[in-house]
Amino acid sequence: MTYPSRRQVLLGTGLGIGAGIAAGLTGGSPFRAALATGMAPLSPDTTELSSTAGSSDSLRSLAARRGLFYGCAMKSGQIAEDPAFTAAVVADCSAIVPEYELKRVITEPAPGRFDFSGADRLSLFATEHDMLMRGHTLVWHLANPAWLETALADAPSMKAHMLDYIGTAMRRYGSRVPVWDVVNEAIAPEEGDFLGRRIGSPWFRAFGDGYIDDAFHQARDVAPDAVLAYNDYGVEMSGSWYAARRRAMLLLLEGLVARNVPIDMVGIQGHLIAFDKPFDEEVFARFLADIAGMGLKITITEFDITDRKGPADPAVRDAEVAALGRRFLDVALDCPAVTGLLTWGLSDRYFWVPDDPAQRPPEGQTLRPLPLDENLVKKPLWNAIADALRAS
Ligand code: G3I
Repeated sequence: MTYPSRRQVLLGTGLGIGAGIAAGLTGGSPFRAALATGMAPLSPDTTELSSTAGSSDSLRSLAARRGLFYGCAMKSGQIAEDPAFTAAVVADCSAIVPEYELKRVITEPAPGRFDFSGADRLSLFATEHDMLMRGHTLVWHLANPAWLETALADAPSMKAHMLDYIGTAMRRYGSRVPVWDVVNEAIAPEEGDFLGRRIGSPWFRAFGDGYIDDAFHQARDVAPDAVLAYNDYGVEMSGSWYAARRRAMLLLLEGLVARNVPIDMVGIQGHLIAFDKPFDEEVFARFLADIAGMGLKITITEFDITDRKGPADPAVRDAEVAALGRRFLDVALDCPAVTGLLTWGLSDRYFWVPDDPAQRPPEGQTLRPLPLDENLVKKPLWNAIADALRAS
């Protein structure tokens, strides 16, 4: 009997021994067998946890005890430029996702001219440290090269461009990238569509919303064993804007499932704003249950908590960020369909600065959205994540 690899457990697809048998019997992939069977996660002592796995209270070890994974977004340049930061990633993370190196503006700067060097570096790093690497992302309305934006006006040929690129990227990494955000951020109720679709997307304008179905079918054809995800944001908090986005996402997912589009997983980004809209545990729990009820797995893919609306005192901001983070994760990790958690960065030394000036911190104030501070010291949010994992 072959035990599922650590990577399969880290995918949180709950690879139980039964899934391994199911895979053997069906000749399918253990990933897909687990998605089908939803087997209970293995305890860590029966998996090949890496020798570099962190200490007993590292986030990666705490997550693995629950058959989950914890990881973060990072940039390839950090590997050579900041060994202290990279060591912190290795100590706490069992997964990484390229923050931008697998986006088409970087990977295909000109038609047919590819540059996967950044993603290759991160893939090697993940392999060296026995980490899962997520593929983010194949089809997005942003971070496209200028030539693609222009060419999308020539719709018929562009479908090939979209489909060919999916094949190029997925074939390059194979099982080294076992899960992909096939389509990212395709809903936008604020754009006025009656179904909440992102009708301003260049992909929607060129092909209508069939591009989403086509992208997932192509991904399944190219990589039958990969876990295929739809990833989006703005579904976590209370309030009409978030509620409209939850409705739109559920409508999208119900349609995909009803048409037998090969989707396995939903990425909920989890970019939270402290000192802002309230968080309602019951609303979010019901939303997760609705997704799980469609037979889909869930990963929290870009968790961070911006505190730009908080007071100047960092201790007050850190405490509120940690309290909100714990409340959010208690709900998320209580959902059996949730497979893991990635933060969008690991340390306040490097955090995503929103393009929208309205989302930037006041002059002279830096954001503190992540588990480690700028000196790589654990913050209350790190403890909140650890406690949520222990309690899950
Ligand atoms: O590395 C180049 C640098 O060489 C160049 O001089 C500089 C100026 O043009 O750009 C640098 O690249 C930037 C890259 O981040 C790395 O810092 C790009 O301009 C910038 O657009 C890119 O922004 C990323 C953004 O997605 C767009 O790809 C952010 O880092 C990244 O945090 C953000 O992540 C998104 C997720 O993919 C989807 N969910 C929302 C999330 C936050 O917006």
